[in-house]
Amino acid sequence: MTHLCVPIFVHSREQALRDAILAAENGADLVEYRIDTFTDTGDIYILVQNSPLPCIVTCRSSAEGGHCELSDEERLKIFETPGPDEARYLDLEFETFKRLALSPPGGYGSLILSSHDFKGRPDRLYNLISEMTASPANVVKIVWTARTVRDNLEAFEILLARQKPTIALCMGEAGIISRILAKKFGAFLTFASLSKSAETAPGQISIHDMKRLYRWDALNPATKVFGVVGSPIMHSMSPAIHNAAFEQIGFDGVYVPLLVNEGYESFKAFMESFLAFAPLNLGGLSITIPHKENSLRYLKEKGAAIDPLAESIGALNTIVIDQQLTGFSTDYAAILDSITTKLNITREQLKDYRIAVLGAGGTGRTAVAALAHYGATVVIYNRTHEKAEALAAEFNGQTGKVVAARFEKLCDSCCRIFINTTSVGMHPKAAASPVDGHDVKFTPDTLVFDTIYNPIKTKLLQTAEAAGAPIITGVEMFVRQAAGQFEAWTHKTAPVDLMRKVVEERLGVDAG
Ligand code: ATR
Repeated sequence: MTHLCVPIFVHSREQALRDAILAAENGADLVEYRIDTFTDTGDIYILVQNSPLPCIVTCRSSAEGGHCELSDEERLKIFETPGPDEARYLDLEFETFKRLALSPPGGYGSLILSSHDFKGRPDRLYNLISEMTASPANVVKIVWTARTVRDNLEAFEILLARQKPTIALCMGEAGIISRILAKKFGAFLTFASLSKSAETAPGQISIHDMKRLYRWDALNPATKVFGVVGSPIMHSMSPAIHNAAFEQIGFDGVYVPLLVNEGYESFKAFMESFLAFAPLNLGGLSITIPHKENSLRYLKEKGAAIDPLAESIGALNTIVIDQQLTGFSTDYAAILDSITTKLNITREQLKDYRIAVLGAGGTGRTAVAALAHYGATVVIYNRTHEKAEALAAEFNGQTGKVVAARFEKLCDSCCRIFINTTSVGMHPKAAASPVDGHDVKFTPDTLVFDTIYNPIKTKLLQTAEAAGAPIITGVEMFVRQAAGQFEAWTHKTAPVDLMRKVVEERLGVDAG
């Protein structure tokens, strides 16, 4: 069993006990009392005796990232007072243990010998692990700052090869999966903070997120792993939406954020190492900025099956990993289906529509390619007119007609559908609209679609609604692209209503 341990900085006995009770209520089964600056042995004894959960007592030196400025000798004196039975573990740095040629201190139950490297991966990682395993430690703990997301795989390898109960964690944003997947790989524990602001190490996740967002209770060695690859990545709503959906249908999967730095080489190195690490049971990936083009290039190099429309767009957002690799885009299907569902038409009927696409960036390109593919007449409006012209030239005449027009002409565009793919109106600049300064006449016969989902109802959509025009929010598109991925991975119908609710709830919280 892998413990879920909440670390608590002890400022007073009362506060520490209160926090430990809260940790227990939130589902922790172990607490770590960090007594770095609280060194009254009598108080520590009472704290441990009254602890509502089994505990680790740690007095971390500043040399290993803690706050204790006492000398080794003074620090060790704290532990001379034998604790009661409930005090299960004493955590001591392996370096200190070796330096002072200590024998295991009695009275505190089991000994965790730990090693921390805040700069990066220890040079002699595997030697260190062997040495620690051969020591009198009951539990071996190794923690380092992940240089890239690939460092997590070494932490998992260490766990799989363990000969003693072991903790192997990577700090920092790139190391988050080592904390979440610790249970899958049989770690002795993982740490989770009591609240979002109470982390004791970089990259620590709150116990609430660990339990609710990352499905801690459901994780097991066979759990399939999915994730979103991008940089930055922690703002992504995809983990919330997919994990909630896994939970809803009882699918044994977990969806995690995967920070992969910009550049093709980083993406390729990530893919090669993660695909090669079979115990991970990697089932699929969502791809976001800045890797949508890199993922297409990589899959082409690998000779993977690629959806032709994604190839003509030049980017993909979904990879399915089973016997073979498959790449496609659920973005364009989400755009098409949001529109056809709203208008109650088939994709083929789009050929009867004249559609304005505002913007010529990545999302604009996806919209143009998808709509033109189904024969629509597309008019592209973009701040930088040359980009609109280049995009039009690329897709014009293949199936539908694609032209570029100047923004000033937007008011007499004669379009039935307007799609905003620019970032104008996005949080935090929600007071703006891409049609500001243009007298566009929306009517109950024009459909207005904003691909921005934060805020849910942009100024553009408010203007459209005020004119009686039907609208489509970016949430609809976001949920549909996620649902497409979910179905490709699980072969099950996506719980779309739940997914929409998760996004709306999170946006409600974020906007507040
Ligand atoms: P994405 O991949 O999300 O589509 P992108 O590729 O950066 O993002 O594209 C952003 C789009 O929003 C572009 O069409 C951009 O216009 P330019 O091509 O002229 O840069 C448009 N955009 C961004 N800020 C804008 C603004 N303040 N006014 C008008 N258009 C804007």
